[in-house]
Amino acid sequence: MQTLFRIPVVIVLLVLVAPLTLRAADDDETPLGEQMEKMKTEMKALRSALEAPAESARNKYVKMAESFHAAAEAAKKFEPEKTKTLPEAERAQFVADYHKAMDKLIKLSGDLKKDLAAGQWDEARKHLKALSQAQKAGHKEFRIHKD
Ligand code: HEM
Repeated sequence: MQTLFRIPVVIVLLVLVAPLTLRAADDDETPLGEQMEKMKTEMKALRSALEAPAESARNKYVKMAESFHAAAEAAKKFEPEKTKTLPEAERAQFVADYHKAMDKLIKLSGDLKKDLAAGQWDEARKHLKALSQAQKAGHKEFRIHKD
C-alpha cells in the first residue's frame, strides 16, 4: 500500500528532472556548439558593419574576422554530435566530410579577412554571403535536426 502512495511522488520527480536532461542534449552545450556561437556573434557584427563600413574601423573588422577564423579552426577539432547517431561504418567518412567542409569555411574566413584589411567592401560582402551559404549547407548535412 505504501509503495502505491510513492508512485505519484516518483512521477512528479521524473517530470521535474526531464527538462534538465533535454537541456543537456541541446547542441549549444557541446564544445562544437560553443565555437559555433562565437562564429555567429562575429558574423552578425560583420554583417551589420558592412552595411555602412568605415575606413577608420578596418582594424576592428579584421579582428572580428580573425576571431571568426580562430573559432572555425577550433570547431574543426571537434566531431559533430550527429556522428554518434550514424552506423559505425559511416562515421569515419562523415567526420572526413565535416573536416573538408570546415576547411572551406576556414579558407573563406581567411579571404574575408584579406578583403577587410584591404578595404574591399564588395568582395567582403561576397565572402560573407558565401559563409552564410556554407553555414546553411553545413547545418543541413552535419547537424542533428530537431524539428
Ligand atoms: C558562418 C558559419 C556558421 C555559423 C555562424 C554557425 C553557427 C552555428 C550555431 C549558432 C549553432 C548552434 C549552437 C547552439 O545550439 O547554440 C551551430 C551548430 C552546429 N553547426 Fe554551425 N555554423 C556555421 C557553419 C557551420 C558549418 C560550415 C558546419 C559544418 C561543416 C557547421 C556544423 C554545425 C554542427 C554540426 C552543429 C551542431 C553542434 C554539434 O553537433 O555539437 N556549422 N552552428
